[in-house]
Amino acid sequence: MAGTGEIVTRVRFAPMSQSGTVETMIRIVANAPTYYEFIRTLRNDPRVQPGFLEVVRITTEQQNAYMAKLGGRYLVCLVDDVPAGYVGSIEGDIRVCTHPDFQGRGVGAAMIHAIMDLFPESYARLKPGNTSSRALFKACGFQRAGEIDGLHRYLRPSVDGVGD
Ligand SMILES: CC(C)(COP(=O)(O)OP(=O)(O)OC[C@H]1O[C@@H](n2cnc3c(N)ncnc32)[C@H](O)[C@@H]1OP(=O)(O)O)[C@@H](O)C(=O)NCCC(=O)NCCS
Repeated sequence: MAGTGEIVTRVRFAPMSQSGTVETMIRIVANAPTYYEFIRTLRNDPRVQPGFLEVVRITTEQQNAYMAKLGGRYLVCLVDDVPAGYVGSIEGDIRVCTHPDFQGRGVGAAMIHAIMDLFPESYARLKPGNTSSRALFKACGFQRAGEIDGLHRYLRPSVDGVGD
């Protein structure tokens, strides 16, 4: 990704094979064609759709065309080499999703930190009722900074204009 190589970090993870929670290493890697179908399927998943601004049904052809243009602005998180989530920054607007099997373990936060390292002026536009997303961005140091078309805008404090 942007010549920096992959990011390796730790998250809480509850393996199916044992009870309790352990820490495990995850990798956040540059997006590549091998992940396009994972991203498409996850974005289409009805369990995550309510968090997004639009309900979509993206086809493989649409996905390949989109990724050919903008795929370089996305990262993918791997847990034990299994894709667990994706994050992107398109015109500064963050797109993030963690697969339901991996939610609540720190994957989302790790991805937000990684995308902010690449695109530091990125921001989030959240549906007012998206509590998991609000919790995610607050945990990553973002603060509410007004509204755009009824959506809550969140910025990191290093960007001007934060704090209403
Ligand atoms: C929003 C989303 C990406 C969060 O991903 P995640 O991997 O579960 O997030 P994390 O495990 O890194 O959690 C980050 C913080 O948010 C909190 N959080 C996450 N989900 C939460 C929930 N449902 N309720 C309360 N807090 C929540 C965590 O407790 C954590 O806070 P902490 O560090 O203080 O403990 C995930 O819920 C998702 O993919 N939702 C559907 C798609 C979506 O809404 N995308 C955002 C569109 S803008």
